[in-house]
Amino acid sequence: MTSSIPQLPDTDPSSCVLDAYRIAIAKRLSETLPLTLQKAYDGVDYGKKGEDFTVALPRFRLPGKVDEVAAKVIENFQPDEWISTIVHDKAFLHFKLNTESMIHDILTQVHALTHLTPSKQPEYGTNLTGKGKKVVIEYSSPNIAKSFHVGHLRSTIIGGFLANLYKACGWEVTSLNYLGDWGTQFGMIATGYEKYGSQEELEKDAIKHLFDVYVKVNKDAEADPEVKVEAARWFKRMEDGDESALKNWRVWRELSVKKYEGEYERLNIHFDEYTGESMVGKESMDTALKRLEELGLIADSNGAKIVDLKKYKLESAVVRKKDGTSIYLTRDIGGAIERYEKYKFDKMIYVVSSQQDLHLAQFFKVLDLMEFPWAKNLVHVNYGLVQGMSTRKGTVVFLDQIIKEAASVMHDQMMKNEDKYNAVEDPETVSREIGITGVKIQDMAAKRINNYTFNWDRMKSFEGDTGPYLQYAHVRLASIGRKNPHLIPLPPPSQIDTTSLSSYSQAREIAFLLGTYPDVVKVALKTHEPSGVVTFAFRLAHAISSAWDVVIVKGEEDLEKARAKMFLYECTRDVLGSALRLLSIRPLERM
Ligand code: ARG
Repeated sequence: MTSSIPQLPDTDPSSCVLDAYRIAIAKRLSETLPLTLQKAYDGVDYGKKGEDFTVALPRFRLPGKVDEVAAKVIENFQPDEWISTIVHDKAFLHFKLNTESMIHDILTQVHALTHLTPSKQPEYGTNLTGKGKKVVIEYSSPNIAKSFHVGHLRSTIIGGFLANLYKACGWEVTSLNYLGDWGTQFGMIATGYEKYGSQEELEKDAIKHLFDVYVKVNKDAEADPEVKVEAARWFKRMEDGDESALKNWRVWRELSVKKYEGEYERLNIHFDEYTGESMVGKESMDTALKRLEELGLIADSNGAKIVDLKKYKLESAVVRKKDGTSIYLTRDIGGAIERYEKYKFDKMIYVVSSQQDLHLAQFFKVLDLMEFPWAKNLVHVNYGLVQGMSTRKGTVVFLDQIIKEAASVMHDQMMKNEDKYNAVEDPETVSREIGITGVKIQDMAAKRINNYTFNWDRMKSFEGDTGPYLQYAHVRLASIGRKNPHLIPLPPPSQIDTTSLSSYSQAREIAFLLGTYPDVVKVALKTHEPSGVVTFAFRLAHAISSAWDVVIVKGEEDLEKARAKMFLYECTRDVLGSALRLLSIRPLERM
């Protein structure tokens, strides 16, 4: 059908069929008004509730009164396969799409791009705008031996989403976990380890044991200033590459990473590489400092070296300590240079809390002053604080506590309904998955920069805009096939007549929403906001709830009609599943 409409750059009806409808609207506008097709197209927006597309006429700055302009578009309009009505309301024109063809086209496309494998076609909702481009995305990046706080969890969740998103848009993605595995605190741990270390505890849970040692040695340091001196000496030896000082550290790092890997797996989060502050080479840092000196950007401050960024309203920052050891900022500068050499990225994204806005701005600026052309391709994706994430036992210190608490809160909730609980095949896994979904959805539901207060009660609820609600919607969709086995498998879409769906406003709403999904993905890429995808999933889940008691498969005696309904639900499940997966959530089949 898409053959009868003209083409426009940056549109692709073969992956987003609503593009074709927008072009059809633009065509009508450009044929009746002095506008190019492109100009007209740029003015076609999604409408408010109940409208498909809306055009705000004043934006075209056309001569004449707005009523006259509107009248020209409407005059002699004949409904066609694309547009069924045009309604004029003040400065706006509302376009309603041809319900029958819209439903048919969208469902057919969803199905084709989800199931016609193996094919080179991208999955429904994805696009190839990033083809040939490379992005490096750094996220999570916890500090070994310190607590994994909610800030790290947010970085993990948002970063995991961004990695999926860039892949969905055709980019070649390298995901990095940049561990805080270096710095004076390791001198502290080395000092404390001599006194408090235990091989057994370390092997049981490296993350917890190192944290305990760190807490204890810090207490000691409060009473005895010698401890810090000793720690600094240790760290200096480590920086100088003294193998005897590095031996333990290597084991600590390795065991911590191993523990983390299991936890990330539970969260459905993956990294191509575990790197860390320790991996940044001395050489690249030295070269960077030398270059900064040459540029006259370095000043001396009591033996330490600082870079003065006050001119840029970025204060001044220490780049090398008095004893010659490196610091966080310098490692980031050297690290970025090494990453560029290694990956030749077109873009590099750091997912780090807004508390570090200044730090990120500083090292981006330094790289810019060093005249690296790629410095302008560094992006800081930041986010606000989370309050109130504590378990029933107290404050959260480790990632596995968060996962366990989410699972157990959900488990308790599910046990409240005994019959249902007993029907679940593997309640442990199911409750953990739903719990993790709840945590993720709560985290991604609002704009990144907002602070929010974590709420376990809201997280576990199956009602309202929550993770469990979305999983429930998906499970319900997945169950229709099981409950109506006589309809499965459906015949190919070309043999399914979807006309009967047009009589249900609920079916229309669902289909249209499905049609918007490719745009939802594109917008998310521009804004780096997961919230748009979450909102989309909620809207879809609500639309499904409304359809449920009206568009009924069970008991539909007309086979043609039953198939059409089934087809609608199957497509809906595909898209809801895709949206959840994009958010790093594993959609459940049963609960
Ligand atoms: N490990 C750091 C922290 O916990 C976060 C690292 C952020 N990334 C970076 N390249 N600086 O505060």
